Amino acid sequence: MSKRGHPNRKLDSHNDDDLPIFRQREKLIQAVRDNSFLVVTGETGSGKTTQLPQYLYQSGFCRHGKIGITQPRRVAAITVAQRVSQELGYDLGRQVGYQVRFDDCTSQDTVIKYMTDGCLLREILADPDLKQYSIIILDEVHERSLNTDILLGLLKRKLLQSRESLSSRSKSLKLVVMSATLETGKLSAFLADCPVFSIPGRTFSVTERFCNLIGPKDVESSVYVKEVVKVALDVHTCEPAGDILVFLTGQSEIEKACDMLYDKAESIDYRYDVHDHSVEGLLILPLYGSMPTDQQRMIFQPPPAGVRKCVVATNIAATSLTIRGIKYVVDSGFVKQLNHNFRVGLDTLEVVPISKSEAQQRAGRAGRTSSGKCFRIYSREFWEKCMPDYTIPEVQRTSLTAVILTLKCLGVHDVIRFPYLDSPEEKYILVALKQLYQCDAIDRRGHVTTLGRLMAEFPLPPGLTRALLKAASLGCEDILLPVAAMLSVENIFIRPGRPEKQQESEQKHRQLATQAGGCNDFAVLLNVFEKCKASDTPSAWCRDHWIHWRAMKSAFSVEKQLRDILIRLKQHPDFPVEKFDGSRSELLRRCLCSGYFANVARRSVGRTFCTMDGHGSVVHIHPSSALFEQEAQLDWILFHDVLVTSRVYVRTICPIRYEWVKDLLPKLHEVEPHELSSVAREEVTDEEMAKWETKEATKRRPEEAAEEAL
Ligand code: CDP
Ligand code: MG
Repeated sequence: MSKRGHPNRKLDSHNDDDLPIFRQREKLIQAVRDNSFLVVTGETGSGKTTQLPQYLYQSGFCRHGKIGITQPRRVAAITVAQRVSQELGYDLGRQVGYQVRFDDCTSQDTVIKYMTDGCLLREILADPDLKQYSIIILDEVHERSLNTDILLGLLKRKLLQSRESLSSRSKSLKLVVMSATLETGKLSAFLADCPVFSIPGRTFSVTERFCNLIGPKDVESSVYVKEVVKVALDVHTCEPAGDILVFLTGQSEIEKACDMLYDKAESIDYRYDVHDHSVEGLLILPLYGSMPTDQQRMIFQPPPAGVRKCVVATNIAATSLTIRGIKYVVDSGFVKQLNHNFRVGLDTLEVVPISKSEAQQRAGRAGRTSSGKCFRIYSREFWEKCMPDYTIPEVQRTSLTAVILTLKCLGVHDVIRFPYLDSPEEKYILVALKQLYQCDAIDRRGHVTTLGRLMAEFPLPPGLTRALLKAASLGCEDILLPVAAMLSVENIFIRPGRPEKQQESEQKHRQLATQAGGCNDFAVLLNVFEKCKASDTPSAWCRDHWIHWRAMKSAFSVEKQLRDILIRLKQHPDFPVEKFDGSRSELLRRCLCSGYFANVARRSVGRTFCTMDGHGSVVHIHPSSALFEQEAQLDWILFHDVLVTSRVYVRTICPIRYEWVKDLLPKLHEVEPHELSSVAREEVTDEEMAKWETKEATKRRPEEAAEEAL
């Protein structure tokens, strides 16, 4: 049945075009039927994500199980599920649904399930055979997200194993891997030389221009926001009709750019300033991961007649989402990327230049329906000197702690020789093992502990889970649950652009901090949560206090979900119970210490602090912290995250006492990476174990470590 033929189809006319995948329908279905592994490739926008699951559904693949489709990004999972349910004429959450972290929109009837790769990984933990599924489609594999890469290895193993043991039910499970062109030969080789199905694409030429507004010296500054706005406005006033897609880095930059665009666009006189007289207005739309869903939907709507649409987006619009009608791309040349920063020994979100291949992908978005233009705000010199050829896969640049714990829970002990599409450096694996060992998730032999199994149940980073479990064992989870929830949602504080509003919001935020004792950012989060929850009119309370109500609503829902997991786990007979008497403030901070003792720093010279994890990095308190400018009164602090600009900043902080971490800090130096290397390979001998035990007795005292770090 062709896409147009479905009786229930309710589509807006704008979307009624002819996708390249339509002509491949029968051949594609046959290819899936014939193979247990299949690689499907095709240009972005050719219809892979939205159409293939429908084809398989319509040809009966759901009779023995669901079709699960993973996406690296939550927005993509949600919007695509919306789109597909609409195309099929079903209500979202019935036959077609989605599941992303903390948001499950599926039901008993769901047979086409879009989800994030992280969600499928968690599902495998609960059901290693994925009994509910007949097909798993790993989508956007070219993005090389950490979870997708791990799923690739896991599913490859699973399917190959079940081919050998004929009795296994999962024999019929199929794996389809979808990628926008890149690396298909490599993927096929990885998946037992499976066939590659290419959807013939149709792209139009894109003229590329370097605008020379950014050069190699600007690599660490944030002038790109201003320059991007300038170029976008030039395009609007000088170029013929056609929508604009601007690539920026993150929510705050996007909001800033949109504000600047609104301001400037207001003063345009359409009689004189605009070359193409059919253009009579500009519709500015932001697009980033944590945006409200109904707003995201607007992105796909055609603009009113005469109005040019300008979407200001993160990298999400590079491949995950295709917006029709885009004729111009404005590329900032930067992306916000999670990297393991060896300088500070932590994962940090950094603004870095994109790779050349990424820049080409961005430019390509201008040529999907007709020829287009791409304006690069940077110079050719920037391109040559600052931009790498390819983006490094996440598995080679971020913390592996959470996925290694998942692998261990799934019985994959030799995490070094796991089938990775691209292997991470061994030192990254060892860092992860060390962290897991430090928070008692694995033992010295590299086996998962009871605590580790409990930790794997939470969709949270290990440090936060550890703190939460500590609180639960002390019976004070009511303090930690809200904090964990607040740390898991997007930023809750509204920071308006206009100076007079800025003052007002800052004053309200300061008031909330003072109520919480004035010197603990975690307690501020707790205070906001409790005050808002207790209010009769929480949305009005948020408005009054310059707090994002939408973020608060998700925090309430996340808290409830974490609480439910905890209630279930507490019934476990092995759930630890401890006793402690102390103030609420002390309890909160002590629990945090048990999860974040690797993020502890001691006052050093001036206003700087020095970390304790062996890196001895010099860090500064971020101006957004309630403790900013109180440095002189502080000695030891604990921080939640790190931001690297020209300086290394730590954010979300509380003061702690040395006694609270005294017994924990030695753990940071107890195990050396080379020792873990044999553990990772499961080759540890009893002699080596004995050596460790003796070392335990002579381990460095934390004071020494602290001295050294200074
Ligand atoms: O996965 P692939 O990049 O091959 O294409 P797709 O995401 O299936 O998109 C096919 C078409 O559906 C594109 O033209 C999109 O613009 C459109 N689409 C849409 O209009 N609204 C959505 N929420 C998702 C896709
Ligand atoms: Mg896609």
